[in-house]
Amino acid sequence: MRVALLTGGGDCPGLNAVIYAAVKKGINHYGDEFIGFLNGWRGVLDNAFISLTLDSIDGIQLRGGTILHSSRTNVKKIPGGIEKVQEVLKINKIDALIALGGDDTQSVTLFLSENGVPSVGVPKTIDNDINGTDTTFGFDTAVMIATEAIDRIHTTADSHNRVIVVEVMGRDAGWIAYASGVAGGAHVILVPEKDIDIDHVCALLKYNYDHGKHYGVVVVAEGCHLPEVGQVTGSEQVDAFGHARLSGIGEALAELIEKKTGFETRSVNLGHTQRGGVPTAYDRTLAQRYGLHAIDMVHEKKWGRIAVLRGLDICDIPIKEAIATNRRLDKRFFDVIADLEAKV
Ligand code: F6P
Repeated sequence: MRVALLTGGGDCPGLNAVIYAAVKKGINHYGDEFIGFLNGWRGVLDNAFISLTLDSIDGIQLRGGTILHSSRTNVKKIPGGIEKVQEVLKINKIDALIALGGDDTQSVTLFLSENGVPSVGVPKTIDNDINGTDTTFGFDTAVMIATEAIDRIHTTADSHNRVIVVEVMGRDAGWIAYASGVAGGAHVILVPEKDIDIDHVCALLKYNYDHGKHYGVVVVAEGCHLPEVGQVTGSEQVDAFGHARLSGIGEALAELIEKKTGFETRSVNLGHTQRGGVPTAYDRTLAQRYGLHAIDMVHEKKWGRIAVLRGLDICDIPIKEAIATNRRLDKRFFDVIADLEAKV
């Protein structure tokens, strides 16, 4: 078969490992040929691609980012977009498409598969919030980066007797805040699934100061709602899928904490560092398993389905199910956070 791959949405450590495994098995096992469209769906519309061979993918499973580049392009919103995609795939004699992306990218994959484009999905997001899969590749790397940063924040916060608020990614779900906050020993962990109780936050920080520890570390997910303000955005702009650019809750929260407690407070936004650099060994392994499953799905003609991790198994579910809702933290995880907090 002649198979095309693309990577859409925000990049994520492990994308290259998915590409590597799908292409390697496709060529060696099935005798496939591959091209990779550049810049997500934009590259399909522009007919911009590179050929993917055993030579061109050699060693890429070790590297972060995506050799295919990425964009947030909403084909559904572009007049004639679907026809253009169909035309470009026909010109290039493509038998199947593998789209690597989060819920926005997969909403396009679903739309195309419902409109006669033979396509399958691989879930991608560092936010780990895709429904139906236990873990997305890239999450482990993001948590490792955030945890290392929080470790470092402890010593400088301690030296200066300060509170430091660390803002991490997580638009709709607080998986990164939860995991890095717990691993990094944060005194306060705030996730978008729960309203912020600012009096409780201040009480937790005061507890430290009253019990001989004159500093505090707060981890907050970018998607949290600040009381009386809501989500904090870094700009008026929205992306092609209508999402606001979230940024700044850490700074806003730090100001509020300083005002209410009198503790000297700073903030740091880890931002895109969490998506950069090489994937962890776990993510490289998981991503390659996703890639191997994706090329099997193509040969089993499982159009409109997406690879998922369930327990120890990689299997697949309808894309419709995966994008129906976000997978969010629930009581089990709120309890972990609460049980590790100081008793105030
Ligand atoms: O990929 C998900 C994500 O990392 C979100 O957590 C974050 O809000 C968004 O991407 C940032 O996107 P961009 O790279 O477009 O600024």
